[in-house]
Amino acid sequence: MAREFTSVGVVGLGTMGAGIVEVFARNGIDVVAVEISEAALQRGRTTLTGSTDRAVAKGKLAEAERDALLSRVHFQVGLDALHSVDLVIEAVPEHLDLKQRIFAELDRVCKPEAILATNTSSLSVTEISVATTRPNQVIGIHFFNPAPVMKLVEVVRTVVTSADVVADVEALCERLGKVDVTISDRAGFIANALLFGYLNHAVSMLESRYATREDIDAAMKLGCGLPMGPLALMDLIGLDTAYEILDTMYRRGGRDRRHAPVPLIKQMVTAGLLGRKSGRGFYTYERPGSPVVVPDEQTPVASESALADGARGIAKVGVVGSGTMATGIIEVFAKAGYEVVSVTRGAEKSAKVFESVKTSLNKGVVRGKLSEADRDAALGRINWSATLEHLADVDLVVEAVVEELSVKKALFASLDEICKPGVVLATTTSSLPVIDVAMATQRPADVVGLHFFNPAPIMPLIEVVQTIRTSVETTTTAKAVCATLGKTGVVCGDRSGFIVNALLFPYLNDAVKMLEASYSTADDIDYAMKLGCGYPMGPFELLDVVGLDVSLAIQRELYLELREPGFAPAPLLEHLVTAGYLGRKTGRGFRDHTRR
Ligand SMILES: NC(=O)c1ccc[n+]([C@@H]2O[C@H](COP(=O)([O-])OP(=O)(O)OC[C@H]3O[C@@H](n4cnc5c(N)ncnc54)[C@H](O)[C@@H]3O)[C@@H](O)[C@H]2O)c1
Repeated sequence: MAREFTSVGVVGLGTMGAGIVEVFARNGIDVVAVEISEAALQRGRTTLTGSTDRAVAKGKLAEAERDALLSRVHFQVGLDALHSVDLVIEAVPEHLDLKQRIFAELDRVCKPEAILATNTSSLSVTEISVATTRPNQVIGIHFFNPAPVMKLVEVVRTVVTSADVVADVEALCERLGKVDVTISDRAGFIANALLFGYLNHAVSMLESRYATREDIDAAMKLGCGLPMGPLALMDLIGLDTAYEILDTMYRRGGRDRRHAPVPLIKQMVTAGLLGRKSGRGFYTYERPGSPVVVPDEQTPVASESALADGARGIAKVGVVGSGTMATGIIEVFAKAGYEVVSVTRGAEKSAKVFESVKTSLNKGVVRGKLSEADRDAALGRINWSATLEHLADVDLVVEAVVEELSVKKALFASLDEICKPGVVLATTTSSLPVIDVAMATQRPADVVGLHFFNPAPIMPLIEVVQTIRTSVETTTTAKAVCATLGKTGVVCGDRSGFIVNALLFPYLNDAVKMLEASYSTADDIDYAMKLGCGYPMGPFELLDVVGLDVSLAIQRELYLELREPGFAPAPLLEHLVTAGYLGRKTGRGFRDHTRR
């Protein structure tokens, strides 16, 4: 017989605790909600009523349901109020000594059969459990932020947690409408172990002025479809909590330097910039606790005219290449009203590109997104050529030929001879240093990276890569062009992986290492990232789509450039590539796609 949970206790009503209270009360369970002081209790109450009022306003909760929900919550100061609950979830700050003290106290106060659970993100559940006389009834129940929204719960069993306690908690999660993954007690469990290296890396990009906060966040949202960028997520988590999690993961997780908190985080915590909860973190919020970002001194001036200010006029664009990217880029420019000169290596290639562009535009017509007249006009704006000489009078050249440095360098040297002065020369390389290409010309100030994402007509992001020789005018022009294409151009430095790949691939590689270590299954890891962090795909789904060979090549580049030991490609990834398991394209990668 599964255990009945009629009444639960929640200790600490901060970012997580208040949300956890809501989850239980929404599902008909009485909650004793405990804080350290009247003032903290009042804050927790305000968070809860704020959240339920918003749910009512959005039509997600009836008023009567809200009233019933709130009537199930009993707010109390001090742990003594928890004497008769069936389960306690602790959600106090991420400090081992504090949690141990609270568990020792809970052990004394709570009835003998009560389950004691911690919502810790990174501390050892085992170490917390030994502060009690009932470690077999201690378990981790790790909710995700915001708890009422995120579907995932990581259930953490220690070596002494009894099997029936695990089973009862799993059944409870199901009753709460959550999806649980049960795992053993390792720093960061699944999701945070994969998430925090990425978050810390994003902060280091900001700290080193590699890119702005807006551009880092936009890159990950628009380039990977994530629900929020890493810096906005740090603000949501709370910088103090994030610091503690990183610090613990660094110490418990093998001293991986990528988890050593970036100094900026500590400075911000010391300065009281804790994120949303204090009204200011990486961004500034309307007031403490509010999700509404307000402009501050770092907010860029985003008007169209300001963007175009100092930009060169671009009317005619040359695109060199005939592959997937070149084809998409030609379409994007022609659709946006630019006159385009496509240069390929011959009439046959040009005919193929023409057919692909036409097919793609026709799809737009069928879907009602483009009129036939606009399609014809776009096609009419493209001039087809097999010689670079036709680029003599263009204002911008976008190079999208094979990813080989010698080929690109030779091409840029030719462009330097042929093109008129003042032209912007752009490369779409995704992995080569832009400066190498720039130095093949006599005008490196005019050379910039324009890293489009595949498929170019659909993906809303372009990384604008400036080298140490790129002029401000060139970058400004490139950004203005992105805007006229209806895309977001994010500016970054000339480092391997730019923003998106540098943040994405180490995370994917970490997921492979986690699988290799048999900590969890590919399915559970995919669930954890989708349901815990709102990612559109899990890491193994994404790896199979991107291609394991492509992923391995990018990861190798990152490792070679940054020499970060944690970036070393996962041996399992190398083996799968060697075995020819490259993902969907070969029918098998992490999963077998032939049987679906
Ligand atoms: N923030 C996140 O995104 C997130 C997500 C999952 C899990 N967690 C984990 O949840 C736990 C809480 O984190 P948080 O972000 O909600 O922290 P928080 O700082 O927002 O809230 C902690 C609350 O605990 C209260 N508290 C402190 N000492 C107490 C005591 N002795 N008795 C009762 N209440 C006490 C504080 O007054 C505060 O309201 C941590 O273990 C954290 O790692 C956090």
